[in-house]
Amino acid sequence: MCGIVGVTGKDSAVQILLKGLKRLEYRGYDSAGIYVNDQDGHEYLVKEKGRIADLEAEIGSDVHGSTGIGHTRWATHGIPSKANAHPHVSDDGRYYLVHNGMIGNFAELKKQYLSDVTFKSDTDTEVIVQLIAKFAQTGLATKSAFKKVLSLIDDSSSYSFLLIDNQEPNTLYVAKNKSPLLIGVGDGFNVVCSDAIAMLDQTHDFIELVDGETVVVKPDSILIEDVAGNKIDRKPFHVSTDASAADKGAYPYYMLKEIDEQPGVMRTLIKHYIAEDGTIKIDDDILQSLHQSDRIYIVAAGTSYHAGLVGKELLEKIAKIPTEVHVASEFGYNPPLLSAKPFFIFLTQSGETADSRQVLAQVNEQGYQSLTITNVENSTLSREATYTLLLYAGPEIAVASTKAYTGQIALEAILAKSLGELRHIEAAADFDVAKELTKVANGEQELVDEKKEIEKIAAALLPTTRNAFYIGRSIDYDIVQEAALKLKEVSYIQTEGFASGELKHGTISLIEKGTPVLAVITDKNTAKHTRSNAQEVMARGANVVFIASRSLANDSDQIVLPDVHPLLTPLVAIVPCQLMAYYASLQRGYDVDKPRNLAKSVTVE
Ligand code: F6R
Repeated sequence: MCGIVGVTGKDSAVQILLKGLKRLEYRGYDSAGIYVNDQDGHEYLVKEKGRIADLEAEIGSDVHGSTGIGHTRWATHGIPSKANAHPHVSDDGRYYLVHNGMIGNFAELKKQYLSDVTFKSDTDTEVIVQLIAKFAQTGLATKSAFKKVLSLIDDSSSYSFLLIDNQEPNTLYVAKNKSPLLIGVGDGFNVVCSDAIAMLDQTHDFIELVDGETVVVKPDSILIEDVAGNKIDRKPFHVSTDASAADKGAYPYYMLKEIDEQPGVMRTLIKHYIAEDGTIKIDDDILQSLHQSDRIYIVAAGTSYHAGLVGKELLEKIAKIPTEVHVASEFGYNPPLLSAKPFFIFLTQSGETADSRQVLAQVNEQGYQSLTITNVENSTLSREATYTLLLYAGPEIAVASTKAYTGQIALEAILAKSLGELRHIEAAADFDVAKELTKVANGEQELVDEKKEIEKIAAALLPTTRNAFYIGRSIDYDIVQEAALKLKEVSYIQTEGFASGELKHGTISLIEKGTPVLAVITDKNTAKHTRSNAQEVMARGANVVFIASRSLANDSDQIVLPDVHPLLTPLVAIVPCQLMAYYASLQRGYDVDKPRNLAKSVTVE
């Protein structure tokens, strides 16, 4: 949440910051700002409410510099407004600060140290920049003042900070705790960013930072120190992703691009994890560790949690290992009674979700083994877990997750197959995962090629409705929970994903004439039951659309899905549901890539 960029040592700082912010806009988009300094006594602070395009329109042709910082905001403390936009500046005009995260004890710090200061914003960030200035006024050098403030911030807080002192205008002061931040290494210049994709046009070499470290970045040097002040020498890692992978290309929106990329993601996963002869290429240590456990706990949030629900089906049915799936924000503060030998799997597209991260911190404290399945190499959850498996899905920029969901399920299938083989489970021997995922890729392609049909159905069903239901049973119940989240988050239609058998136990009272109900039928054991439940709502006036696997479909079903392995049906069934959400959002006049109030990469609890 919130995007941060910084650069020092390049005359085109304004353009670099703006381009970086556009790439990070998915992390928050209620206001934005930049500060630049030309090393010649000129400095510029420009902030605006709204999108990066609004900020760009505010930047006059005179604004220039070779060092600067920028920020795109997702509001935590204080409404979205120009005054609350970052960078924040100290009263003496010396310090400029951008911040991602939230400061738990900002009110206490304000009361204790800053009762004489008139604040210009309602943010926790302004407290930090004013406090740095206050300590500097007592004679402390900037680094010491910065470190002193960091030492006063309580444990509940999360932050990544980028600070400029206009008395040392080519220097960036950097620190992080529980929020992501990377230093990008250039030739005669350096950059800072909360996600590598922001700066891939400048460099592909990045240094990761560890919580508690402070860094002083100049055009030709990067000095990292740990909490005790010891110098840390850390080599950069290389990010091979092409900068263009983060662009929309010819697509009108990222969400459509990412929906269309799903067949390719299946094929990439097959290539990465399955050899020509069918051998699965997953590190033996991961498999042994899973094998030695007596129960798997999948922990995740949102769409990744929904991918976990399908993962449970796969791990229990193919590897025959008991598996529980938990919402991270619940697990952290109300954990279940654990088995004797638990193993934890964290599913996370971004690898940064604070809710999941706080569970992983507890898991590490208790000494349990863990695996993070993520799309982002070197992300925090990847670094902090015992093991990592990557999705190789390419950057997912649209706030609504699509290709990460299908990528996660496909990788869970590969994992279940290899674990099942290790455990000599017959179901695993019978499961030709490469063949089945290839079938899925072809099926997904068939569905994305028919998107115009979905557009028509969405136009007939969803343009004005206030609410909608997705219903299904068994694995179809897993699918409809994700389908409902997709529809509600981008179209603002209040949508429930419901176990169809439960309707008659209360929720059916919400059905009125014309209420849209989408029934997903891919499970042969429950197909008839869901059809009867659909009849029950039709009898009460609901407008029902059936989404059914070809082998279970009736002639009148509106959306027919290619047949795939029964445990992999979510990988095809979700595609028309994603498209339905996409078109409903556009038809209702919304920005589908940036739904209101949301941001990608949720780094606050
Ligand atoms: C919904 C969506 C969110 C994320 C959730 C977890 O479309 O994207 O529900 O799935 O915030 O994020 P990750 O997977 O990055 O941990």
